[in-house]
Amino acid sequence: MLKSALSFVSHLESLPVYVPGRPIEEVAREHGLDPSTVVKLASNENPLGPSPMALGAMRAVLGQLHLYPDGSAHQVKARLADQLGVEPAHLILGNGSNEILEFIGHALLGPGSEVVVSQYCFAVYPIVAALFGARLVSVPALEGFQADIPGMLRAITPSTRAVFLANPNNPTGTLTSREDVSRLLAGVPPHVLLVMDEAYVEFLDDPVDCLSLVRSGAMPNLLLVRTFSKIFGLAGLRLGYGVGAPDVIAAFERARQPFNINSIAQAGALAALEDREHLARTRENNRAGLLQLESGLRRMGLPFIPSHANFILARVGQGREVFASLQRQGVITRPMAGYGLPEWLRISVGTPEENQRCLTALSSTMSSLAS
Ligand SMILES: Cc1ncc(COP(=O)(O)O)c(C=O)c1O
Repeated sequence: MLKSALSFVSHLESLPVYVPGRPIEEVAREHGLDPSTVVKLASNENPLGPSPMALGAMRAVLGQLHLYPDGSAHQVKARLADQLGVEPAHLILGNGSNEILEFIGHALLGPGSEVVVSQYCFAVYPIVAALFGARLVSVPALEGFQADIPGMLRAITPSTRAVFLANPNNPTGTLTSREDVSRLLAGVPPHVLLVMDEAYVEFLDDPVDCLSLVRSGAMPNLLLVRTFSKIFGLAGLRLGYGVGAPDVIAAFERARQPFNINSIAQAGALAALEDREHLARTRENNRAGLLQLESGLRRMGLPFIPSHANFILARVGQGREVFASLQRQGVITRPMAGYGLPEWLRISVGTPEENQRCLTALSSTMSSLAS
């Protein structure tokens, strides 16, 4: 095979690589398992599937796929703006919220700039920083993997362009307290964009309200990032959004491809936003599932971090080995060595049956590793 003589940009070499949860088909093939028996608890997806209303709406647009989508996604923005109590000018849609994170890089980051994150932050923040040549400043986490908010504020310099905080955080499931969020909102200087990543916010009973600061215009350097991938059960559709000041959104819009949100995603999102029942069922399944996983882990004597999201981080010892053993038993979880947590495993909340499959497989794995 001939190798190309192309000169790739030098920073690609040192770019951190995002390692996704393993697909069911691939694991089934590798271990000779029937795919229908494999359980995936690796990517914080919705175990109840997509909203039935969204499925119907998406089927209905298939016959129109010869037409380009509405490049401004007018209807989705209008509906979202209405639900959030903001103007459409406060909103930008992305191909997953990951694309919104990339817009931040396009609009604000470059060599010489800095990005502040907490240790154990979501893996895409360091990737975006590296992709645009910015320096990543990772502030050591506190006890219990909590983000050190005063430490993050102290890490801000005149070169800082963005601070990223996911609340709840992935992969730890930790929640930054109301007081600390207030400190962050008050302490981030105007030359820095504060990115509050709210991918899991809909799972909270009483979330801190950051939206009102965008709505009122009181904090023009605040951006909220949300997604249809988690509670809405539409991870495969790739749709996320950012909520921020109109001038920030306008800057991001310049970096956006004209048709980044496809027609199926627009139809699915519009319907999903109306499906209150699906949201309520998902929230309830998650609440019960977290309790089920916690009590199972407790019975096995495995420490875990109390979670505010739709997954739980458990300390299993040899994370890689336990992950591999579970996988052989048809249960896909997420090893955490890539996050610097080799003793930990992240387990997404499934249906009651899936959670039980995982706990049973974990119990037999722990017994066999101990003997
Ligand atoms: C904290 C956080 N932000 C953003 C994302 C990206 O989600 P998506 O690109 O599917 O919207 C994820 C997905 O796991 C996440 O955990």
